Amino acid sequence: MKLIQDVQEMQQTVLGLKRQGKRIAFVPTMGFLHEGHASLLREGRKRGDVLVLSIFVNPTQFGINEDLDNYPRNLEGDCALAEACGVDLVFAPTAAGMYPPGFQTTVALGPLTKPLCGASRPGHFNGVAVVVTKLFNIVQPDCALFGNKDFQQLAIIRQMTIDLNLPVEIIGMQIVREPDGLAMSSRNSYLTPEQRQQSLCLSKAIQKVRELFNNGEISVDRLLGEARMIITAVPESSIDYLELRHSTTLQPVETAAADTLFALAVKIGSTRLIDNTVLGGDL
Ligand code: PAF
Repeated sequence: MKLIQDVQEMQQTVLGLKRQGKRIAFVPTMGFLHEGHASLLREGRKRGDVLVLSIFVNPTQFGINEDLDNYPRNLEGDCALAEACGVDLVFAPTAAGMYPPGFQTTVALGPLTKPLCGASRPGHFNGVAVVVTKLFNIVQPDCALFGNKDFQQLAIIRQMTIDLNLPVEIIGMQIVREPDGLAMSSRNSYLTPEQRQQSLCLSKAIQKVRELFNNGEISVDRLLGEARMIITAVPESSIDYLELRHSTTLQPVETAAADTLFALAVKIGSTRLIDNTVLGGDL
């Protein structure tokens, strides 16, 4: 496994591999890898001759009061996990390498970015879209793997890939959960032991909404009301959003159906956690 930090070196390396006809599978991340990332890497290993992992805490997708400076980092640990998952190339550029002086180009996104995390994190998805476009141009992957936990991010990247004819197959992978149900996230490391316990309100709300829906409840108000009760019962919780939306368009729904997305963002203390489920799909 090779670690590359220089953008040009990475681009030249993959161009050489492409000339040899190698198929490149790519897992973009911000590092501090966990089992969710490992599941993407294992799937990527099956799908490419060369498996590339990028580790880059992208400053442009963080708002001014967000956790850019405190975002957990562990390059050494990440490289060990990457090696165990069969990664060939780790691309870990610097912020100056990705955004040299004079950088000014953005990607204009559409309605998918407006609701949910787009509403509470203005500019976040523009930062994601720019960095993913840049990473695709540098790494030139045939396929790229993303987790479903960032459901809206994945929807936006899929749409951007179609709209801009990016020659990359986008593969969405199931949310990986801790045994007690908490969706895996690098940000879980911020939680105190008490908050870690309280964070289970997200997956409990998901289970409740799925159970009610499976028993025939389709009222948006009643489904969200039950979820809200579970979350507000937790002392350190504050709800950013709890929403039922169409899973393809992300538009509001009048009643829940099998293709409805239940998405939530909840702060436990100062840690913002997200989770989601599509009601008719697997958990
Ligand atoms: O999901 C993430 O880790 C990031 O948003 C991504 C896609 C690597 C872009 O920085």
